[in-house]
Amino acid sequence: MDNQAITPQAFSPDASFATDAARNLAEKISSGQAVVGVAGLGYVGLPLAVEFAGRGFRTIGFDPDAERVRRVAAGDRSMDGVSGDVLHRVVREGLLEACADFARAGEADIVFICVPTPVTTAKNPETKYIEAAANALAEHVREGQLIVLKSTTWPGTTQELVQPLLERSGQADAPGFAAGRDYFLAFSPERIDPGNRTFTTSNTPVVVGGVTPTCTRLATLAMQQVCEQVHPVSSPRVAEMEKLLENIFRSVNIALLNELAQLCDRMGDISIWEVVEAAATKPFGFMPFLPGPGLGGHCIPVDPYYLSWMARRYDFETAFITLSARINETMPHYVTEAVMRAIAGLPVALSEARVLVLGVAFKRDVADTRQSPALSIMELLTRRGVQHLAYSDPHVPEIETPDGLSLASVSLSPEALRSFDVAVIVTDHSAFPYAEIAEHVRCIVDTRNALKDIDGDREHVMLLGGGDF
Ligand SMILES: NC(=O)c1ccc[n+]([C@@H]2O[C@H](COP(=O)([O-])OP(=O)(O)OC[C@H]3O[C@@H](n4cnc5c(N)ncnc54)[C@H](O)[C@@H]3O)[C@@H](O)[C@H]2O)c1
Repeated sequence: MDNQAITPQAFSPDASFATDAARNLAEKISSGQAVVGVAGLGYVGLPLAVEFAGRGFRTIGFDPDAERVRRVAAGDRSMDGVSGDVLHRVVREGLLEACADFARAGEADIVFICVPTPVTTAKNPETKYIEAAANALAEHVREGQLIVLKSTTWPGTTQELVQPLLERSGQADAPGFAAGRDYFLAFSPERIDPGNRTFTTSNTPVVVGGVTPTCTRLATLAMQQVCEQVHPVSSPRVAEMEKLLENIFRSVNIALLNELAQLCDRMGDISIWEVVEAAATKPFGFMPFLPGPGLGGHCIPVDPYYLSWMARRYDFETAFITLSARINETMPHYVTEAVMRAIAGLPVALSEARVLVLGVAFKRDVADTRQSPALSIMELLTRRGVQHLAYSDPHVPEIETPDGLSLASVSLSPEALRSFDVAVIVTDHSAFPYAEIAEHVRCIVDTRNALKDIDGDREHVMLLGGGDF
């Protein structure tokens, strides 16, 4: 979270709007007088709310999670994904408030919808959170208000799902109350990369697509207040599809590397890590992706299903999505098999083997465990008969495993490390003491090439894609 200067022309008001409602809103945004509402104070919504509040916009967060609202309203410095100091300051200065219901949504000139978009057990889009937020906003939507959906979703959601809900009740019932003239509606996908200190809200370009050109211009102006570069597109559908392309691109390329890692394991004498490092020296036409223990988080494992679901409407099968999901979803099983082989190679009974999972967050240096492959691996190991399972994660002090076990993170002293038979590195947090791990654990399954810089004997290390799995 940083408050870098935004280019001055982004603040210049635009007098050429056709309606008073649009012109007034543009002036409010440009002068910093607009009140910002954020529905959903999670990994996406809270940083956005803090970013606007940090730049002086009065901001109100709405979230049904009473505990989350209490923590935000108290300026809790330990909230994930934001600078504790900035959050504390904006709350203390009265710039950021939080509410558990939408009663005050009418106060906001701009409302961003940042609610979850998971999939159902059948891997279909679960849009009930978007619907709930749109229904709640519909009670308060008013002339001159801009509503921007940021949740990742299928192309068409903004116009086919959100717009009719918004226009069904409240002031939108007034005859002639129209998106683009009286109120404004757009889609602007989120690109936040939690834990990334180089690319933050202000220096990561965003895409905006409005229901009408005026909606696009107003949403662009709104996003320009916190973001240096805004790229308008011709419709919400294009913006919705663009976001899915970004995530499917990652999913497909990671799957390719996961498949090649398995091939390298079978070949035995080529390390996929060395291959990628060499390929990455090509300055054009190649972008490095790495293999790993499986996908995690709220985006990459989930979002591609939004498009494959929608494609079925058109009798179209998105084969790349299906194939990459299949490969990526087998990775926790592949890693589990490697751990089982590691145990089998030691003079210890399976029921006595002590296994340490290193990293349960889904990626490096964050605390987010949603859909983490570590949890799948732990569940699979338990099913296979491992009875002494522990984990360590500097960012996740305790977890509940899918089997209902409550575990606390183990601290990694040399004595503690020596007490384990096998350690499996699932998440390569930078805080892990890799030299000590390599020195003290009897056998290590490394799914991230986290031990690459550790010198010495590697006989006890099984590297994914290194020919050792
Ligand atoms: N986490 C990321 O890195 C990331 C990145 C880009 C896009 N996204 C997308 O952004 C969206 C939000 O993701 P997130 O990670 O912030 O989710 P999250 O689970 O961290 O936060 C969502 C918040 O919305 C709240 N909520 C649920 N129903 C609500 C309602 N009806 N009204 C208001 N609030 C409600 C929840 O209580 C929760 O606090 C998803 O569509 C996700 O795919 C996430």
